[in-house]
Amino acid sequence: MTNDLIRRSDSDGIALLTLANPPVNALSLAVRQRLAALTAELEADESVRAVVLAAEGRVFVGGADIAEFDRPPEAPHLPDVIAAIEASRKPWIAALNGAALGGGAELALGCHYRIFADTARLGLPETSLGLIPGAGGTQRLPRRIGLAPAIEVITAGRTLSAAEAREAGLADRIAAGELIPEALAFARTLDGALPLPASAAPLADPGPAFWDEARARIARAARGNPAPAAALEAIRAGVAEGFAAGLRAERETFLRLRASDEAAALRHLFFAERAALRPAALRGIEPVPLTRAGVIGGGTMGSGIAAALAAAGLEVRLTETGPESLAAGLERVEAIFEAQVKRGLTDRAGAAERMARVTGTVGLGALADCDLVIEAVFEDLAVKRRVFEELVRLCGPEAILATNTSYLDPERIVEGLPHPHRFIALHFFSPAQVMKLLEIVPLAATAPRTLATGVALAARLGKIPVQAGNGEGFIGNRILKRYRAEAEALLLAGATPTEIDEAMRAFGLGMGPFEMQDMAGLDIAFRAREAARALGQDLPEGPGDRLVRAGRLGRKSGGGWYDYAPGSRLPQPSPEAAALIAPLVTPGPRPSGTEIADRLIAAMAEEGQRICDEGLAQSPSDIDLVEVHGYGFPRHKGGPMFHAARKTRSRTGGA
Ligand code: COA
Repeated sequence: MTNDLIRRSDSDGIALLTLANPPVNALSLAVRQRLAALTAELEADESVRAVVLAAEGRVFVGGADIAEFDRPPEAPHLPDVIAAIEASRKPWIAALNGAALGGGAELALGCHYRIFADTARLGLPETSLGLIPGAGGTQRLPRRIGLAPAIEVITAGRTLSAAEAREAGLADRIAAGELIPEALAFARTLDGALPLPASAAPLADPGPAFWDEARARIARAARGNPAPAAALEAIRAGVAEGFAAGLRAERETFLRLRASDEAAALRHLFFAERAALRPAALRGIEPVPLTRAGVIGGGTMGSGIAAALAAAGLEVRLTETGPESLAAGLERVEAIFEAQVKRGLTDRAGAAERMARVTGTVGLGALADCDLVIEAVFEDLAVKRRVFEELVRLCGPEAILATNTSYLDPERIVEGLPHPHRFIALHFFSPAQVMKLLEIVPLAATAPRTLATGVALAARLGKIPVQAGNGEGFIGNRILKRYRAEAEALLLAGATPTEIDEAMRAFGLGMGPFEMQDMAGLDIAFRAREAARALGQDLPEGPGDRLVRAGRLGRKSGGGWYDYAPGSRLPQPSPEAAALIAPLVTPGPRPSGTEIADRLIAAMAEEGQRICDEGLAQSPSDIDLVEVHGYGFPRHKGGPMFHAARKTRSRTGGA
């Protein structure tokens, strides 16, 4: 059985090895064993002049088998297998049919020649998994393409296209026609002389200033992930002390990081993200093919959704209630595409194509032939309901009709309307053209096909779909509410807004809870609390209420939890806010930095667990995806559920 993992077939003194370990030809233990055995066998076989290493499927090799990383490494280790290939007396030619990533790229780098299919690519994405390359990548790549480009590829986890690899001197050729016959023909032309192996190529040290600059730049971009800086140090060790010492440093760092919490967190997300795109319950259910989508409402949310849909190639009809609001909505969409050009996400022509796919109309009439309509109007039940009443008259019974509501009950929006199998809530996060999370909320009567279409839409938009049950705030906003309540509890225990925000930034969030509320405005939540009070709910007067009543609504009113100098976004501790909060503070020990972060994350995890227990989320990893992709939870901490479970395990000694 294991022999099928790499098949050997010989002709004319050339051995063709074909790797077949679907889905991505990962270099699992069994593959490494077979490759090591074949390497020895081919070396001893006098009938073999050269070896072509190829792979089946769309991917050359997707890397080491990530699923093995939770266990101790087992021999034969990849660096040794690659060293044996590089040391072979016969030329090895890697024939790259598709992506050669991580260990796959390192394997290709250890071969004497590389031929790329024109769609093939090569990259070292290990840092995005909290690792560094562990099989010579940090040593061989700089010696093949030069120090500065290699540092970029490795620390940013960038992938080189076939054309870029050719330019950089990594691809000996790009196949013009069929890859394998061309690789075999190339092998036949070789006369037995071997090129200088990467390990023997010289590499000059550019000096301390170069390394200082690189260190500073990489630390800035890493956002708390320790891997990019560690990769740089392994590269530097190889430059300063030579290839063999560099390999040792690389391996040591790789093994250390492989066992780290950060790498475990990033692996957890790697598998969770892939599982989210392929929910088991929807296996075999074909989504509705989407060509034309309507978006109702050209505000911040609607225009962001329209831009996301158009960027993914859908034809978009953006509707508004009047010509002026429509013009403003279209301008917002255009501004989004312009910003994408500035950030290098597309070029002028690309932006123009995207914009050409967006048509603006007044009223809903033009939505009749859409396959999907997403409503993003004002959060008002009666307004939304009127929209859906009109939509069901206009659109065919198979058109999928979605609401983007955040806080209303979607069942009530569509109650009693015909063909309920096609209603769904698709909850985008602002800015919708950027944020990766899409909460997908099926209603009681939603058909599996409608749900599958939501998931397929997320994949097409490059977003992460998370199915949420229909409970208040769905998953994300319900946890946010709990998080804010806990932040206020900490305030009442004597911590200041500055201390709390700093603790959360130190944990890895982009922003703390109070600066965030100042940015968004305190008044919306205040109005919601007042409405609940008017309905008889017993909500005690909290510090947020006191601030709003004193006219402190956040940045827009010049101050909220903080003060702001005119025109400045820099939060300054506010004596006025402190005085408003002070009467509510209970005496006792004040919570400190790590205790603050621990309590806030524990509150999120607790609420997440409750949501799972109530059946409103399908798994704890879905909660993690919501927080990471919708709320800026640091990736290398894996999400609140992962973080809390890991903490409990380390406290109980891994039991
Ligand atoms: N080890 C183990 N499993 C892997 C894997 C790896 N290195 N790479 C991918 N897989 C699995 C995925 O989990 C997925 O499993 P599933 O079908 O059970 O969900 C399956 O292979 C297909 O992966 P997917 O990413 O959905 O396929 P794709 O065709 O879109 O992309 C790759 C293929 C190789 C480009 C992509 O999987 C990838 O980037 N892999 C990771 C590469 C990497 O980081 N390597 C360094 C490892 S140290």
